[in-house]
Amino acid sequence: MSKTVTARAHTNIALVKYWGKKDPKLMLPQNGSISLTLDHFYTQTSVTFDSNLNRDQIYFDDQLLPATKSRRISRFLDLVRQQSGAEAYAAVHTENHVPTSAGLASSASGFAALAGAASRAAGMNLDNTALSRLARRGSGSATRSIFGGFVEWHAGHDDASSYAEVLQDPIDWDIQMIAVVLKATRKPISSTAGMARVVKTSPYYPAWVKTAKTDLKRMRRAITAKDLTTVGQIAETNAMRMHALNLSAQPAFNYFTAATLTAINAVTDLRAHGVNCYYTLDAGPNVKIICAGKDTDVIKTALQRHFAPEQLIVAKPGPGITFTETE
Ligand code: DP6
Repeated sequence: MSKTVTARAHTNIALVKYWGKKDPKLMLPQNGSISLTLDHFYTQTSVTFDSNLNRDQIYFDDQLLPATKSRRISRFLDLVRQQSGAEAYAAVHTENHVPTSAGLASSASGFAALAGAASRAAGMNLDNTALSRLARRGSGSATRSIFGGFVEWHAGHDDASSYAEVLQDPIDWDIQMIAVVLKATRKPISSTAGMARVVKTSPYYPAWVKTAKTDLKRMRRAITAKDLTTVGQIAETNAMRMHALNLSAQPAFNYFTAATLTAINAVTDLRAHGVNCYYTLDAGPNVKIICAGKDTDVIKTALQRHFAPEQLIVAKPGPGITFTETE
């Protein structure tokens, strides 16, 4: 038996979103993106390459996944074997502290943790830039989950130039997200398939790529200026443009539920009453509210008219990937 490496990676929520690939094989995005890594949601994954195994064994919360469900992970392990020269199959144990398939970006923390644990267990010693490139091959949003705080993923033009880096970490000003966790239904369409359909069929896609560039520039400036209002405004508009792409695809799709719209309206109402808060949404029904910690109580009280207290999870800026090793 060789060494076991455990990695913990936190999820991130994009403020300027990745929604479309330029190169699906290398996982190069159409545009750069900026996110905030969160402390509350994370994945912890342990990997051991073991020459006694006759296939990869992937356990989610101690349950062995059938081969049909673990194919994407096995393919990623093939890439690690190819890059490291390791030959053995791997045992992978994953604990997800994120509601899966509900738009809280479990693939971001999932593939970041897997990239970290698998590459180290296979004897590679990648720096965080190289690790973010490797995580990208598992899932685009995982590129950013290697780092803490505000992170930018540079779109790049090839494997070497498409990686993430820290924009600001630690964050010494008051910004947080309140996740409104709605019923975790299965997605109508995966993010991978949804974005591919949008690139192919939405007549608005070129406008998205163009406005994303402006959003990136303005978001970088707003983060440097520690300007919550501008960060929130750009993020909210950017999120709605992403969802407008989905509505304009052929065939159209969306990730909203009735409860999603209730949460969006509650945020808009709060803002009309002077509370500085904004929403963003990903490939699922959940709404994430961008706000200052000092406004937590007033926002939670307003949302509790519609949602149970346990559906409202407060998350602060979170850290980058961490490791532990055992022989
Ligand atoms: C809406 O990273 O899940 O969360 O690269 O195909 O695995 P794949 O997609 P994924 O897409 C995430 C999209 C998003 C926006 C974002 O995180 O930037």
